[in-house]
Amino acid sequence: MKIESLTLSSDAVFAPVAGFSDVGLRSLCARMGAGLTYTEMVSAKGLIYGNEHTEDLLHTTPFEKIKAVQIFGSEPQIMLKAAKGKEFEKFDIIDVNMGCPVKKIVSNGEGSALLKNPALAAEIVRELRRAEKPVTVKFRIGFEKNSRTGVDFARYMQDAGAAAITVHGRTREQFYEGSADWDYIAEVVRAVNIPVIANGDVFSEEDYKKIKAHTGAAGVMIARGALGNPQIFSRITGTPCPFGTVKEIVLEHIAVLASFHSEIYTVNNMKKQVACYCKGLRGGKQLKLETFGARTLKELTDAVKNSEVLEVPAIK
Ligand SMILES: Cc1cc2nc3c(=O)[nH]c(=O)nc-3n(C[C@H](O)[C@H](O)[C@H](O)COP(=O)(O)O)c2cc1C
Repeated sequence: MKIESLTLSSDAVFAPVAGFSDVGLRSLCARMGAGLTYTEMVSAKGLIYGNEHTEDLLHTTPFEKIKAVQIFGSEPQIMLKAAKGKEFEKFDIIDVNMGCPVKKIVSNGEGSALLKNPALAAEIVRELRRAEKPVTVKFRIGFEKNSRTGVDFARYMQDAGAAAITVHGRTREQFYEGSADWDYIAEVVRAVNIPVIANGDVFSEEDYKKIKAHTGAAGVMIARGALGNPQIFSRITGTPCPFGTVKEIVLEHIAVLASFHSEIYTVNNMKKQVACYCKGLRGGKQLKLETFGARTLKELTDAVKNSEVLEVPAIK
């Protein structure tokens, strides 16, 4: 899959997932074959005003060969200023969030609110292109439950100069309910000439094959299916998994986070990540409780090291 002059090593990509797409998980997904990784959504304004928390989201490792930073906002000039900032230099692609359904974001005219304002959405893309990097857009198939405007919106984005688009097959009103509408994603694919990345409800290698066949999309984005499960990319792409057990993966995840962040940040963030790794494992609930009680990096690491729960093969 190509996005302008960038050639991705695979068409399976790891999604922006607020609170989870940290540098550790992105790095693991890339090592296991994700052809593109995204930061979680970062505020254009937060970057301009030097919000330390925002900058915390922008660490990367050399394993992430092609990487996108996802930005949200509604003011084209502010977004361009953020995109031209030093923190963005290491990113290959600027992705714009036009799909976030959260009320606080939508009421500011950001995220999925832009689906209702295609003229402003197009202006944002045109402005961001001045940062001289491919600009991509991630959006939902429509705003209201029964109004699907994604095809027209996709054409707008293409005409404004988007290098590729990602379509999550739900409307804003659906949030994460119901199932993603792959039929409608296929309509979007047929309507534009730029690469389309299909997104929604891919949890296995079989789902990946099905969504590709169903939609004809150039790429597939995976969010929830990769949480606590970066190995999904090894299964899909055939990239050998460099870890023998889930425990080794979790320890690497901790090590990468700890190399960039404070102890407290690492411990707090790893608690929810460990909960994902534990999902579906026998005895997982007990380990989840133990790590939730951890106050130091040593306590957290010891709980992981000593657990039998995570001694399962990374790839079954
Ligand atoms: C906890 C959570 C956080 C998310 N954060 C973001 C985000 O920061 N930016 C974004 O574009 N989408 C975000 N999403 C949406 C996902 O990227 C994706 O579009 C959605 O989960 C559907 O894909 P999936 O079925 O593979 O999970 C988030 C989803 C979840 C569940």
